[in-house]
Amino acid sequence: DLLGAVLAASDAPVLLAPAMNQAMWRDARTQKNVTTVLDSGIRFIGPDSGSQACGDTGPGRMSEPTQIAAAAAELFDTGSLNGRHVVITAGPTREPIDPVRYLSNASSGKMGFAIAQAAIDAGAKVTLISGPVHLTTPDRVERIDVVTAEDMLNASRNAAKHCDVFIACAAVADFRPRSIATEKIKKTPNSDDVPNIELIRNPDILATITSEFPTLYSVGFAAETNNVIEFARDKRTRKGLAMIVANDVSRQDVGFNADENEATLITDNTEHFISKCSKAQLARQLVAQIAGALHGN
Ligand code: PMT
Repeated sequence: DLLGAVLAASDAPVLLAPAMNQAMWRDARTQKNVTTVLDSGIRFIGPDSGSQACGDTGPGRMSEPTQIAAAAAELFDTGSLNGRHVVITAGPTREPIDPVRYLSNASSGKMGFAIAQAAIDAGAKVTLISGPVHLTTPDRVERIDVVTAEDMLNASRNAAKHCDVFIACAAVADFRPRSIATEKIKKTPNSDDVPNIELIRNPDILATITSEFPTLYSVGFAAETNNVIEFARDKRTRKGLAMIVANDVSRQDVGFNADENEATLITDNTEHFISKCSKAQLARQLVAQIAGALHGN
């Protein structure tokens, strides 16, 4: 019995979603076993009552998968950010060149969305300001969709008025075209001419929020391809951040658009390395560190 052996050997929280024939569920021996399992700290979702695959009607129907998923998520609620409001930026920004072209980058939004999920699980109210991505919004997260860096700055300014923690995970385009062509830029026939697109600097969202809301606990990411820790330390100081997440983005297996990540969390007096793991796991560790700092640990 592989499942039973794994359960017996695991310290993880366990949630059971029973599904069986109504007579089996009502049977006194089943109910006695349910009491034993409940007494051991294992939790149940369901069963629901209704028509069954065997043709019977009654208790024993498996709960809906979405209810099971929500109940499973609650198992991980730590409450460490209860009563806190966390604002997170995620994904890329897109800076239009003309009606059909833009400047952007390879950020998928996965890291920022994982942080949103971890912050929700920790009991926070979460506002997620996202550039264009193809991801589902985690339950209970307020999501604000933006396109350009200027949109993201405006949304961040509004949200920051009411928040305790600001986490900038977005890969914001540092530059944008000075002007946006109103019509598609055409190639000149029989010519090698290329358009000259003048770029200007975008606002630094994180630095702006940190200077306008100095009491916030602000966390930045440093996406670096070399001298990762050194550049990250420098960015933390220059942008006036409580914490920076040093992220090596020279690798394919972590960072941009990967499912896993590896990072060092840097504060003014600590450096905590998190070895390669899923973005969900890294997000939970990041949230735990932030909660610890807010609680003065
Ligand atoms: O989205 P994924 O595919 O999951 O990838 C995740 C990630 C690699 C994008 C993420 O982990 C990450 O490293 N995000 C930061 C990307 C970045 O733009 O880093 P930076 O070193 O250029 O910027 C430093 C910090 O300033 C960042 O917190 C950034 O959000 C912020 N910034 C930068 C420029 C700007 N104009 N405004 C900003 O707020």
